[in-house]
Amino acid sequence: MTTFDWNIFYPRNLLEGLTLLLAAAIWSFFGLLYTALMLTVISYSFWISATRFQRGYWFFKPTTRPATRSTTAGNPVNFDKDLTQLYRDVFNTEKVMVSLDHASQYDIHIIWHDDLNITARLGTLARRLGIESLPGKKGQEAIPVIFFEVWKAGCSALLIKKKPDNWGEPVRFKPETLTKGKPRAYIGDTINGDPIIIDHALEHGAGVFGTSGSGKTEVFVVHHASMQLTGLNPEMHIIDLKGTPQLRRLSNDSYISTTTDEQGETVADMHGVYELLQALNNRLAERMTRYTQADCDNIWQYRKKVDNKERPICLYVDELAVLSRAAKTARKDDPITNIMAQLASLAQLGRSGGLILLVGMQHPIATDLPTTIRNQIMTRIVLAVADADAASVAGIPGAQNQPMQGAMMVKHGNRVQIGRGAYIPANT
Ligand SMILES: Nc1ncnc2c1ncn2[C@@H]1O[C@H](COP(=O)(O)OP(=O)(O)OP(=O)(O)O)[C@@H](O)[C@H]1O
Ligand SMILES: [Mg+2]
Repeated sequence: MTTFDWNIFYPRNLLEGLTLLLAAAIWSFFGLLYTALMLTVISYSFWISATRFQRGYWFFKPTTRPATRSTTAGNPVNFDKDLTQLYRDVFNTEKVMVSLDHASQYDIHIIWHDDLNITARLGTLARRLGIESLPGKKGQEAIPVIFFEVWKAGCSALLIKKKPDNWGEPVRFKPETLTKGKPRAYIGDTINGDPIIIDHALEHGAGVFGTSGSGKTEVFVVHHASMQLTGLNPEMHIIDLKGTPQLRRLSNDSYISTTTDEQGETVADMHGVYELLQALNNRLAERMTRYTQADCDNIWQYRKKVDNKERPICLYVDELAVLSRAAKTARKDDPITNIMAQLASLAQLGRSGGLILLVGMQHPIATDLPTTIRNQIMTRIVLAVADADAASVAGIPGAQNQPMQGAMMVKHGNRVQIGRGAYIPANT
């Protein structure tokens, strides 16, 4: 369906308006009707052809708005008239066009412009769009939108959270995205519907950051399900000092949680943690010697050349902050003061030794996340975090404005994917 776009005949700028006034003057003062008509026709023809590319059509506008998500250089973009007008008002320029796209948790405004300072007017824009400011925050921080200066060539984008009732079904776990024999984990879908895959042959360590209820445990659950399908039969070690039922349920080789102290109180089993980390470090050291002797750089080569039964080792650490604080407050002679160093060494040996490390953290702050560990977890799975500081320690500015329940930005080195984590309902 198409309709004639009468908007084409509205004067778009001062020059256009003046040309029409001149035409009117020529007609009424000098009676030169044909000259006036010619002037008008030339003016409109010029404007219509000049803006044809931006509209994507000549005169007839498609009334059903096709999904713009598959928009590539070759396809015309469908601009949203009302949104475009709103942006034009806010930025007081004609040189902006906006198209609207949808993902399960976001409305996405794709803003085509030359060189607008969009950040400077985000406040006004948010007010016009009816987006409520966050209480207790000031300036930019109070505006709960995610803004990307460069979305693709020639445009920026604004991601606006939808209301939870409009999020639709959770993302289904997709075993079909995995390949047997490859250490890959499927953890969710991007807003375009592409799978988010972590390739542990290249990305040995990953951090999972997000406030309580953002979906960290679900990331571990989905990662675990992926690992079971790799055909690599990985070992599973879990350090879960919060005692989360879903994590306890995952079959594994060791599960460290809480213990009782001398007073009979339930406390984090820090000595259990220490012993596990030390044992794993010893095993990785032994592996490295064995791999070097076999002239292999890493487990993946070793599996190919020598023994295809060599198992990768998965270690999940949920709530790293508990570890780092316990290490800091322990007595000087207590071995648990070394826990962070042990973990850092594991993370470092993991790349060659085949240790897949996932560390979870509710509130990433620099003091709880030593750089020795941070530098080894090059993959960042960042869910909704509490504030801009946390987002920047996690490595993805803007991540503080994500919705809850699985919304994630995943950074593989320099590449960032935006999407939502997969969800496996508990009783299936
Ligand atoms: N990807 C997802 N899709 C749909 N719902 C989700 C998703 N991830 C999490 N949820 C919902 O959010 C709830 C909380 O998630 P989860 O337990 O993983 O949070 P968490 O980050 O581990 O919290 P905490 O820090 O308190 O342990 C889940 O019970 C589930 O209902
Ligand atoms: Mg959890």
